Amino acid sequence: MSNPIVFDTISKEFAGTNRAAVRNVSLEVLEGHLVVLLGPSGCGKTTLLKMVNRLYEPTSGRILIDGVEVHTLKLTELRRRIGYVIQQVGLFPHMRIEKNIGVVPKMLGWEKRRISQRTDELLELVGLPPAEFRRRYPGQLSGGQQQRVGLARALAANPSIMLMDEPFAAIDNITRTRLQDELLRVQQTVRKTILFVTHDVEEAIKLADEIVIMQEGEVVQYDTPLNILSHPANDFVAQLTGANDLLRRLSLQPVATAMLPWTDEGRPITHKITPTTDLRTALGLLMSDNLEGLTVVDEAGHPVGYLTLAAIRNLTPRPSEETSGSAPSRHSTPDTQYLETDT
Ligand SMILES: Nc1ncnc2c1ncn2[C@@H]1O[C@H](COP(=O)(O)OP(=O)(O)OP(=O)(O)O)[C@@H](O)[C@H]1O
Ligand SMILES: [Mg+2]
Repeated sequence: MSNPIVFDTISKEFAGTNRAAVRNVSLEVLEGHLVVLLGPSGCGKTTLLKMVNRLYEPTSGRILIDGVEVHTLKLTELRRRIGYVIQQVGLFPHMRIEKNIGVVPKMLGWEKRRISQRTDELLELVGLPPAEFRRRYPGQLSGGQQQRVGLARALAANPSIMLMDEPFAAIDNITRTRLQDELLRVQQTVRKTILFVTHDVEEAIKLADEIVIMQEGEVVQYDTPLNILSHPANDFVAQLTGANDLLRRLSLQPVATAMLPWTDEGRPITHKITPTTDLRTALGLLMSDNLEGLTVVDEAGHPVGYLTLAAIRNLTPRPSEETSGSAPSRHSTPDTQYLETDT
């Protein structure tokens, strides 16, 4: 089985420009993974994305979807396989929500009843009760609700791949957080292979299985959020991602990686935490309640470890101990080894 999305030495030079917008990009996206393209404005994220569903044609190189070169596929076939969500949503203003969601299925010749059922199912999935929203027009929805409809529409024909270009960028913080949570929830049930563009580092870290860091049309690093934050390939990556930010790194590591073994039977079990809670949360508890330690308990409530400030400090290297550039910059496949240490 080949990976669902493969970029093979892809370059794109727009006519009339003297620099390639995308240069020699080779990447493989693993099935069911959410991969975030992260980089400054103009680095080529949108260009890279648009070559997947052939809104742009590459100047050289190949893109394969499930092992098939995209330019050998019919456009209707490509659109069935690939959902596309953009920042401006792009709903048709004169069409009711139900018609908007049914656009691709209709194009594919689905029966009315099947489209209708699918529409209800998708509205439920993105948290918009069909009875309330089906018959409305896009102008009668808030920006966040429209963005949900955009997501539902992209999922309509059950594509295996989703391309999302800054889908939540124009939305207020609270709604954006809610939409991110919803995307993660939806992703748990439908498991798409997703390429997601953002220039919001927090969003990237929260959503990504792997992050692709781009700079001036090239891929600089491709790895898990934790590996990128702990081993940035160069200064540019470190600055872009705030890799020196200790709290950011702690937010990606579970309590289990830092806890001490449970030995002292006499220790009072007062404040409990689970091994899968992130260390940033744990640190917050320790600090705000000025606690000496937290008892780590398993699902049955049995103590399995103990967490102290010192234990967290032991886990995190001081800046002087950090090696820069020790990680090889990987371009082809991400390193899925999430945690190096497990005690
Ligand atoms: N249609 C076009 N014609 C000519 N140049 C283009 C075209 N589209 C993009 N470019 C150029 O290609 C480069 C990459 O643009 P792209 O839109 O991919 O960047 P981006 O990473 O998505 O940026 P942003 O974060 O601002 O959306 C830029 O220098 C841009 O000016
Ligand atoms: Mg863009």
